[in-house]
Amino acid sequence: MYYTIQWDETAVSMLDQRMLPVQEVYRHYTNYHDVADAIRSMVVRGAPAIGIAAAMGIALAAVKSKTGAINDFKSEMLRVCQLFASTRPTAVNLFWAINRMKNIIERAEDVEKCKNELVSEAKKIHQEDIEINKKIGEYGHKYIEDGFTVMTYCNAGALATGGYGTALGVIRSAVEHGKQIKVYACETRPYLQGARITAWELFKDGIDTTLICDNMAGHFMKKGEIHCVIVGADRIAANGDTANKIGTYTMSILAKVHSIPFYVAAPLSTLDPDTPDGNSIVIEERNIDEVAYIQGVQIAPEGIFIKNPAFDVTPAENITAIITEHGVIENPAATGIASLFGVR
Ligand code: MRU
Repeated sequence: MYYTIQWDETAVSMLDQRMLPVQEVYRHYTNYHDVADAIRSMVVRGAPAIGIAAAMGIALAAVKSKTGAINDFKSEMLRVCQLFASTRPTAVNLFWAINRMKNIIERAEDVEKCKNELVSEAKKIHQEDIEINKKIGEYGHKYIEDGFTVMTYCNAGALATGGYGTALGVIRSAVEHGKQIKVYACETRPYLQGARITAWELFKDGIDTTLICDNMAGHFMKKGEIHCVIVGADRIAANGDTANKIGTYTMSILAKVHSIPFYVAAPLSTLDPDTPDGNSIVIEERNIDEVAYIQGVQIAPEGIFIKNPAFDVTPAENITAIITEHGVIENPAATGIASLFGVR
């Protein structure tokens, strides 16, 4: 059995997702700088998973720190938090997890006690995430009927989270409830999270999965082969606009045109009441080589202009429902996410 990420007392271990599906390689980081680099370079990716990785990285920095005076220790840890906050800008779960760690640092009065608390908090964030995903699955599977074919985009699975997954958690839950489900996984250019990771995860679970190129999605929707689309999210603004992997917006329009329900599954840590709408979400721009090369093979002329935004924003009006661990927001364009502010 594989795992996304694990706390090993003096190291943070994670499956190197860049190597999938060809090799299952685990990295064991004993230095927090390497954990930050692992987030930046996509060894670990997916909004909840990078939040957990940052929390574990901060805990690792604390455990390894030689600083004895509490105020120096606190300053050092806050600098570590800043480093993790600079790794990726779009997924709000990263900042949510860092804030949980910062709260502990800011009220600390004793170095050793603070170290223990930071380790416990990182483990707790991880454990909670798995439980949250199971709850999302419980709420979400009701939208997936026996015999449905579900389209998904990018990877919002076990490997994007502490385990089980959000969008793939809903699919897993439907299967666990005895429903016959087929999945169409879009490959998700340029980084191929759908082909390399979602297809790998679902195939390992024995779930009936068909891999398609992104530009085939409309074709299968038009033929009536898709009953619903379910995706994860990196940040959901107060009005329900949702940032997710680049191409999600296109899928939402295709779904709308074909009257196919479009669901977003995400934990409350992805809801960002401080961001009013999708226009205010920072979209990460990644290295153009991710577009110019596929698995090390150059596929575009040298010197051509290339753009590589990693995320796009799906307007709330294209979303049928947002499925969280505290319940479902149907028609978020009408209600925003305000109904769940209080339980965050
Ligand atoms: O660039 P990535 O691979 O981190 O992007 C991941 C996604 O867009 C996921 O759909 C999102 O983080 C939700 S993961 C439960």
